[in-house]
Amino acid sequence: MWRTNLKVLAVALIVIGFYTMVAHVIPQLQSEVPEALALTGDVTPEALAAAGERIYSGAGGCVACHGLGTRAPNLVTDQGGEGTIGARCGSRRPGMDCKSYLYESMTNPGAFVVPGFENIMPDMRRQLADDQIWATIAYLQSLGGEVTVTASDYGTSTEAPTGAAPAAAGPALTATTEPLALLREKGCVGCHAIDGAGPPIGPSFDGMGRRLPADQIRRAILLPNADTAKGYEQFAGTMPQTFGQMLSAAQLEAIVQFLAGRR
Ligand code: HEC
Ligand code: HEC
Repeated sequence: MWRTNLKVLAVALIVIGFYTMVAHVIPQLQSEVPEALALTGDVTPEALAAAGERIYSGAGGCVACHGLGTRAPNLVTDQGGEGTIGARCGSRRPGMDCKSYLYESMTNPGAFVVPGFENIMPDMRRQLADDQIWATIAYLQSLGGEVTVTASDYGTSTEAPTGAAPAAAGPALTATTEPLALLREKGCVGCHAIDGAGPPIGPSFDGMGRRLPADQIRRAILLPNADTAKGYEQFAGTMPQTFGQMLSAAQLEAIVQFLAGRR
């Protein structure tokens, strides 16, 4: 056991060291945009679902909860004999078709809470742009059902976009280093309270600097499963492990310094 722990620690230190180095050597590094989709009207259902799959297992952070069999319903595999998500989505709520149900699940998860589970899923609009959400829905539909997401859902016309800026540039795609904006954009405030308000899934950001030095905060963001905050054992493993890819080094440092400064 201690051997494994040592190995985990060694890997953790290497990763942290790497990010710290990157942060100091190239502080001007700009955000590498995760999955900027810039969808056009003629994208095929297959291509859309493939983009959605990458979001599902990457920037979306879905696998932090789904697929473990306990914390959240299985989506890719059967759940309780009701089939994969594409097969069961159309019969979850009376009068609601599959596409509407999946959109609601991702943008207003509290509206219907699957029996046997807790209402801990964050509103994915905090973290994903609209077209990323629709691509993810296409992927979920493809798991045992028919993809019915079309260009009209994600608001792109079939005409080529005019002007230089792609319409798909959503809230998840900025390169800001303003900490409060980042905490909102990356979905942190979907789980952590700040200024006395917000959900209690993770420890409050208020007073975090009193409890944790900057290096521990950095480690908690990059390797959320390395330690579990006291009193939050029931939610251990819910924090997405993808922030290392979703944040540029400069963005990560901006958040770390901001949280370390909250006393
Ligand atoms: C913090 C944990 C968590 C994360 C992250 C999360 N979910 Fe969920 N999700 C849940 C839980 C718990 C439920 C069941 C309770 C409910 O319905 O809200 C759920 C329910 C769902 C459902 C409805 C399932 C059904 O059987 O009807 C869908 C669809 C879904 N999630 C998709 C996603 C997608 C896609 C992502 C990533 C973009 C995601 N979730 C990220 C926890 C999470
Ligand atoms: C889906 C929910 C969720 C999201 C989103 C999330 N966290 Fe967390 N976070 C948690 C939970 C639960 C814990 C406590 C359990 C643990 O330590 O693993 C935690 C722990 C932490 C800790 C360690 C706190 C301590 O007292 O030890 C820090 C720092 C942190 N999160 C920062 C962030 C930042 C910054 C973001 C956004 C970039 C973020 N979290 C996004 C759920 C989340």
